[in-house]
Amino acid sequence: MNNVRTIQETVVRFAPGKDHDSLMHKPGYAGKPFSRVDANLKVKGEALFSADFKVENPAFAALVYSTITKGRITTIDTSEAASSSGVLAVITHENAPKIPTPPVFDPTGESKGTAASDSPVLQDNRIYRDSQPIAIVIAATLDQAEYAGTLVKVDYETEIATVSFAACKPEAVTPSDVLGEEPEVKIGNAGTAFSEAEATTDNIYRTPRYNHNAIEPHATIAVWNEDDSLLVYDPPQNLYGVKHTLAILFGLAPEKVRVVSPFVGGGFGGKGTLWDNTMLCVIAAKTVKRPIKLVISRAGVFRLAGGRTLSEQRVALGAKKDGRLTALIHSGITAMSKHNNFPEQFTFPARHLYSPKNIFAGQKVVKLDTIANTFMRAPGESIGAFALELAMDELAYSLKMDPIELRRINEPKTDPAKNTAFSSRHLIEAYTLGAEKFNWQKRHAEPRGQRDGKWLVGQGVATAYYPVLRLPATAGIRINADGTAFVKAAAHEMGMGTATVQIQHAAEKLGLPLDKVSFQYGDSDLPESPIAGGSNQTVSIVASVTAAAEKIHKELLALAGRNADSPLSNLTYEQIEARNNGLFSKTDAPEGETYMSILKHAGKDHIKVNASSEMPTELKQYSMHSYGAQFCEVRVNEETGETRVSRWLGSFDCGIILNPKTAISQFRGGIIMGIGMALTEETLFDERKGRIMNPSLAEYHIPVNLDVPYIDIIYNNIPDAHTPIGAHGIGEIGITGVAAAIANAVFNATGKRVRDLPITLDKLL
Ligand code: MOS
Repeated sequence: MNNVRTIQETVVRFAPGKDHDSLMHKPGYAGKPFSRVDANLKVKGEALFSADFKVENPAFAALVYSTITKGRITTIDTSEAASSSGVLAVITHENAPKIPTPPVFDPTGESKGTAASDSPVLQDNRIYRDSQPIAIVIAATLDQAEYAGTLVKVDYETEIATVSFAACKPEAVTPSDVLGEEPEVKIGNAGTAFSEAEATTDNIYRTPRYNHNAIEPHATIAVWNEDDSLLVYDPPQNLYGVKHTLAILFGLAPEKVRVVSPFVGGGFGGKGTLWDNTMLCVIAAKTVKRPIKLVISRAGVFRLAGGRTLSEQRVALGAKKDGRLTALIHSGITAMSKHNNFPEQFTFPARHLYSPKNIFAGQKVVKLDTIANTFMRAPGESIGAFALELAMDELAYSLKMDPIELRRINEPKTDPAKNTAFSSRHLIEAYTLGAEKFNWQKRHAEPRGQRDGKWLVGQGVATAYYPVLRLPATAGIRINADGTAFVKAAAHEMGMGTATVQIQHAAEKLGLPLDKVSFQYGDSDLPESPIAGGSNQTVSIVASVTAAAEKIHKELLALAGRNADSPLSNLTYEQIEARNNGLFSKTDAPEGETYMSILKHAGKDHIKVNASSEMPTELKQYSMHSYGAQFCEVRVNEETGETRVSRWLGSFDCGIILNPKTAISQFRGGIIMGIGMALTEETLFDERKGRIMNPSLAEYHIPVNLDVPYIDIIYNNIPDAHTPIGAHGIGEIGITGVAAAIANAVFNATGKRVRDLPITLDKLL
């Protein structure tokens, strides 16, 4: 592999290699399992993450955090810190540049901002939450900055903070919207239908707070240039959102702000919105007029970047004796901060998955004096599917029905909430394929039916579900006279294989060998890509690359047409296709011209275009979702209560798969995160002080290798005719249904229904 890279430009392309030789020169790159184009860079440690960039004359920043939860600073004495060795400045609310309220992320896209919270950043003496940053110390070295931070003396006047979810629940309110959708959906009369049902289940399910724990902590380098332009190295999932937010906050024209980020060391939603640290780094650079590096510690990430909210959910199901659902009630409460609007859409699965005539799906929130909660892999769907899919298992068990059969007979023909046709829905096929490969038929329906010494063995299933999203995007294509092409898009690479899949698609569209196409990305100076969130990025950018390929082909055809000798001069756009390094007749194989030849005859050394994808109107016309069936086997130690996941099969229905290798990694990553959610992860929160008590990987337990079995992934690969190239995004669906499948398997093994996550040992003894 060859990679060309300078500090401010990231370009990747394939070079012929052993893995690729057989596939490289055959058309049909989409759907092939290419290894990541950036694999060598990453394995060799050459991939540059934000904190790795070298800038001239940097200074280092450290933060001082509030030790109270609510109130005001009465005095802040920075004199000792300021005179400490190496210190260049100490910035507090008393001397920080004035900036407006951060513009928060808005699902309608009207606000160009992407801030997580609108609480002021170093603008007044108020404390809004525990661990709020109250001072930035800047010094010649990181150690000097951190040490001086300990010398800042603060007196507070404390106020009573509202931090207890339990205490606030009675005052929960209905939010204005849930991610742009109605907070409540009512179809028929679910309450009456439930009370008249022949079979029912009605339970409360609880999920705790979670934090993302990407391997790369948030880190920023801010360079405030002499011409009042701003260069920021930062690992966001939304380059343009960060660019616009910083432009608004610091009164700059958007074209004066450049955000660079070739590699993001994991995001999972934790870098989807902009947190205080990036703004503080820019404040520091503006104040001291030097490049500033601000790298957040692991504990600092817990303090500065919010995680997934906790939830208390009710699912009540009513059915006929044959299992047909008559009523579905999914309601509950989550917590937000007083400075954001993210209720976490846990009722969305209930709005689209099953076919009862009566549905109530509505959610409420309490607002606490805490850091803002935010997106975390399949926000809403992952915790909502936990409750709903446990309830389905409970109903199946009470009816003595196979849980897959219960799903089969409740499969809707049209979307129950929107009353629109499904664009593509093959959930039952996913169940059928999965059941066969997993050997589901061998399971004992009665709990405690399988044992291996002290280990109780059980199997469970649950539905995976995630919406399809596509956003407008722009891409650039440049074709050079040497027959190579550059595809350009701001784009985000946080490990999912962005560059790899876009090169595959572009090579296909341009009729070029894979190693002739470079992808330049990771920079807000490149054509606009949407937020890498909601699993939309791949398909959104694919649609824009398709638009750019069409545009450049039309321009090349016009260029060739000026040359009467060109075989293309007689052909219309409808008559040609891209193959063999150029444009050729669809019907007459040799009739056409290569890009090199067209550009040579035109006397040009390159041609380039930018184009934007069409608005995603399909999302209004159809109910568009991805589906899957999660199958798992657990072993629960009867003496210790320890749960081990021993087998996994995920069977997915997500349109066609563009690259099996990177896609299977994504599904597996989601499932692993779901195993953590189910068994070990939990952000411990002090309901008196509003403080996170386990801000470290030693005490917040994400799954390690030994916690994860071999994960088998299959997918039905049925194209969705209503998405660009038939594919869906797949970054998030993997986690959905996982915790429910585990809880259902634990019930099958032990006879114990655990309805509050995580399923720790104590709950099984
Ligand atoms: Mo995803 S939680 O939208 O990064």
